[in-house]
Amino acid sequence: MKPISLTNTEQKDSDKQLQAQLIEQGQLPEHIAIIMDGNGRWAKSRGNLRSFGHKAGVDSVRDITEACAQMGVKYLTLYAFSTENWRRPKMEVNALTRLLASSLRKEADNLNENDIRLETIGQIDRFPDKCQRELKEVIELTQDNSRLNLCLALSYSGRWDIKEAVKRLARRVKSGEIDPEDINDEMISCHLSTADIPDPDLIIRTSGEYRLSNFLLWQLAYSELYITETYWPDFRRKELYKAIHSFQERERRFGKLSKDEQKKQAKLHVQELTT
Ligand code: FPP
Repeated sequence: MKPISLTNTEQKDSDKQLQAQLIEQGQLPEHIAIIMDGNGRWAKSRGNLRSFGHKAGVDSVRDITEACAQMGVKYLTLYAFSTENWRRPKMEVNALTRLLASSLRKEADNLNENDIRLETIGQIDRFPDKCQRELKEVIELTQDNSRLNLCLALSYSGRWDIKEAVKRLARRVKSGEIDPEDINDEMISCHLSTADIPDPDLIIRTSGEYRLSNFLLWQLAYSELYITETYWPDFRRKELYKAIHSFQERERRFGKLSKDEQKKQAKLHVQELTT
């Protein structure tokens, strides 16, 4: 298989080594979700318009997507436009939707050649027709790809997602298809927009804000959180490697005891039984 390249630059040996080290030293997150934040502040700190920051943010999207595909991360979900983002000035919203449409057009073949599948979650029908058309084309073009699932959250919010899932479930209860007592976590997950995607293992937020901002509220229940001060346009693969390294150092307990504590408790139990 030909080497993966979205950035049209050959991967440096030093980068290959870093990736190999990460793969060797621990488990990679299967699903990484990112709240891309700080484009506006990045642009402002350079005396530029906010749209300049969004454009630079696209380069980070490309670099992070490429690095994830190279390493074998299976799912990458990017919070590209929240339901609340519609409240921004019309000029910025227009610039963002135009940027989305033009980036999709430019990257379509590149995504496809690199075996990356594009998906979306959110209220896509709120976007201008041109944007919807570009999205539909790239989604169709890449639908059989399997190296990496790139999911763009567009006009998305966690509460919207949960509300829609509740409506779907309520309709099925009303029609007698399901008993309310049978509703469990799995059934709720299956009615969310992310039904075909595993929950994120790692959630990254850039620009030093300590909030979830209405992203994947149900799905993030057990995700490891990584927050960096770096603004999104400066968040490139080395920053991603730091986040993955931090993830690998943690022990995910899912509410259970730590492995050390489990061993201690097991020993105590044996002692109790044998004395
Ligand atoms: C947050 O920065 C970023 C966004 C609202 C948009 C993210 C969009 C892109 C990176 C470009 C298009 C994406 C794709 C997938 C092609 P902010 O504007 O909230 O920054 P601030 O908090 O500093 O104001």
